[in-house]
Amino acid sequence: MPRRSTRFEALPAFPLAEMKAARRRLEAEGVDVIDLGAGDASLDPPPAVIERLREVAGDNAHSRYPFQMGLPAFREQIASWMQRRFGVTVDPWAEVLPLIGSKDGLAHIPFAFLNEGDAAIIPDPGYQAYLGGVTLAGGDPHLVALRPENDFLIPLDELPESVASRTRLVYLNYPNNPTTATAPDDYFEQSIRFCAEREAVLLHDNAYSEIAFDGYRPRSILEFDGARDVAVEFHSLSKTYNMTGWRLGWVAGNRETIVALSKVKSFMDTGQFLGVQAAGVAALESWEEWVPGNVATFKRRRDAAVRGLSEAGFDAALPKATMYVWVSVPGGESSQAFSTRALEQEGVIVMPGGALGAGGEGFFRIALTVTEERMLEATQRLGRLQRDSAC
Ligand SMILES: Cc1ncc(COP(=O)(O)O)c(C=O)c1O
Repeated sequence: MPRRSTRFEALPAFPLAEMKAARRRLEAEGVDVIDLGAGDASLDPPPAVIERLREVAGDNAHSRYPFQMGLPAFREQIASWMQRRFGVTVDPWAEVLPLIGSKDGLAHIPFAFLNEGDAAIIPDPGYQAYLGGVTLAGGDPHLVALRPENDFLIPLDELPESVASRTRLVYLNYPNNPTTATAPDDYFEQSIRFCAEREAVLLHDNAYSEIAFDGYRPRSILEFDGARDVAVEFHSLSKTYNMTGWRLGWVAGNRETIVALSKVKSFMDTGQFLGVQAAGVAALESWEEWVPGNVATFKRRRDAAVRGLSEAGFDAALPKATMYVWVSVPGGESSQAFSTRALEQEGVIVMPGGALGAGGEGFFRIALTVTEERMLEATQRLGRLQRDSAC
């Protein structure tokens, strides 16, 4: 086997890869597996999205290279949506960049900003693309534990000076995967100030901005004063429109950062299929009409999950947003050991908190991927493990 690079060797295992293999193995053995692992709901995209893809699939103009410009109508619809949703004005040509899913931008942006020794602040637990991108680009990932005592926020003001002075990138993600935490306005304001003082780029991952409940409306960081000088925000069609496999998202905000990311990407990819971008226009056009019903579905699943978990004796807070529930592992067992028992004894796939970073230890995550009935069935099965660990 040829030698692998030091950067490659520094990557941890990607948590979801193992779960897919475990699911296949158990199903081959005839186990009725309930998969609450990946954030990939058993729901359909809006019908208008599928219809639009059908319409444009045979149009030769959509078969050409997209390049980083992508479909002009998609850029324009993104700018229109940012205005409708957040009251934020962005220039579709200079302050927006279409992405092949938001992961594309989150993972590639460190290549534009990090030299050896430069630090990137990364939430731990967190979406693994942050760590992957920073590690492969040769930067220094500085993981900060998200803990309940800090409301799952990163206390940027408490970073040691030896790290703060080297910080070039700060990843934030609220509403947060996996903890489901949300950030108050003053936290966004402090983060913008921190990045302005340190000449760091603030990367706000807003993949869950539309999956929020009980009247809570997540904000865009671009709504805050000074954000446009330091911040870009990543959006995704994956969760809002059940389009995980379509691979479509965008980044909006600070124009120099957008130019830099666009240049990196132009050496690595040639953009998402224009037909998918046309379907993305239909998705954003359907936002007012279609998204509330989808959120209502997630809310019913959330309520079933939290009710079932509580009845089974778990400590599970009601999330204000995201498609997850973040649950304490009972009885001091490690999150990996508990998740392995859940899979092997009860056929339920949950995400061990520790697989998303050491800061996630003591918790497991369930994703609201299945119907209320299946969710209740899953929580009852998990409850049996709870009794086992109490014996
Ligand atoms: C916090 C967070 N950001 C980004 C993504 C990636 O989304 P996309 O499908 O747009 O790449 C995910 C997917 O699970 C996520 O949880």
